[in-house]
Amino acid sequence: MHRRNFIRLAGGGTIAAATAGTLAACGAVGSHYPAEAVEAWKGPVGETDPRRRAVAYAITAPNPHNLQPWLADLREEGVITLRTDRERVLPHTDPWGRQILIGHGAFLELLVMALAQQGMGCEVQLWPQGALPLALREWDDRPVARIRLQPGGQPDPLFAQVLLRRTPKSDFDTTRPVAPELLARLLASAPASGQTPLRVGGTVAADQLPALRTLCWESAQVELLTPRTMMESIHLTRVGPSEILRHRDGISINTPFVRAVAALGLFDRSAPPAEGSAAYKSAMGRFEGHSRTAMGFVWITGANTRSDQVQAGRAYVRLQLQATALGVGMHPMSQALQEFAEMAPHCERAHQLVLGQPAPRTSHDATVQMLCRMGYPPDMAPATPRRPLARFVRT
Ligand SMILES: Cc1cc2nc3c(=O)[nH]c(=O)nc-3n(C[C@H](O)[C@H](O)[C@H](O)COP(=O)(O)O)c2cc1C
Repeated sequence: MHRRNFIRLAGGGTIAAATAGTLAACGAVGSHYPAEAVEAWKGPVGETDPRRRAVAYAITAPNPHNLQPWLADLREEGVITLRTDRERVLPHTDPWGRQILIGHGAFLELLVMALAQQGMGCEVQLWPQGALPLALREWDDRPVARIRLQPGGQPDPLFAQVLLRRTPKSDFDTTRPVAPELLARLLASAPASGQTPLRVGGTVAADQLPALRTLCWESAQVELLTPRTMMESIHLTRVGPSEILRHRDGISINTPFVRAVAALGLFDRSAPPAEGSAAYKSAMGRFEGHSRTAMGFVWITGANTRSDQVQAGRAYVRLQLQATALGVGMHPMSQALQEFAEMAPHCERAHQLVLGQPAPRTSHDATVQMLCRMGYPPDMAPATPRRPLARFVRT
């Protein structure tokens, strides 16, 4: 979730008046992220070890709030052990760590693809010491996956899209519908139902879009109006080059205006914006725009064990890579799927709309794991920051 407009309006006219001078003073030009913060998107530079090279690609994986919760242990010869960084979770919007583990699946898929690209096969064992428990506070050091390298490995055509993939977080162009044939090609790229317990589906049908758009918009309002879930995003917001460079994660904002606002010390991160304030209206407007301009939807459904969550992430990144190849934007709108109490009616509705059945009661019930809007962004989305490779590997 971005806060660009929210901050822009937070101080109203006073900020606007002060901005020009401050912009000049802090040398703010352009809204691109500092080059070092996005260096991961060049791929591995100067890395010769195949496992490190594979991890360098895998850290570009999509993941919730760009927390980058991955640790790759390389201490065992010929093996990569993937663990979760227990500090990097979202207790309020993702209380069971489901989305975090989807992000692990995405990392794992890119890792396997990057090994194959180097002529290496691998055997992936999920949860070699058993799955993580439900409650985040009980998470321990047990691995998400053990990846044992072996000969073989066929390069995957989708690998060409890995460094081009972006999550577009702007309003889509409402004059450009998503063609049914394009949706069909996207969905056809997913593994056949006999090969995976997951299902990938979607719609661009005019009679189905309004209800899904409304679901996204109404559920976004719940996240924004629930102080603890709103604050979770605010705490992860990085404003301006020095903060972005220091963290290289979270929700990065680097527009000249926001940099000026931050330089003036007017960016308040201590409380959610007051209802009715300009900041509030702006944050709302952003989600309203995203929801209203959804020109199609895709989803991934399946059971909800820890393994299903990881597998959903593997499927999700492949789908987004395929969307990249097809030139269409795919943007998750996860609010309605979140498991905090205030969201329950919307979670119920999401499952009714997508699956025609109630929200899951057990980990074996059908669950909507990902719900994404589709469409064409007016401009190419920027590559988002990643922390340096050394922060992810244990050697
Ligand atoms: C499980 C999951 C849930 C996500 N949910 C949202 C969401 O609700 N809203 C959003 O703007 N992006 C969402 N994203 C996208 C991430 O914010 C994005 O992947 C991250 O910021 C990194 O950006 P990138 O994908 O362009 O590399 C989600 C990604 C994953 C894997």
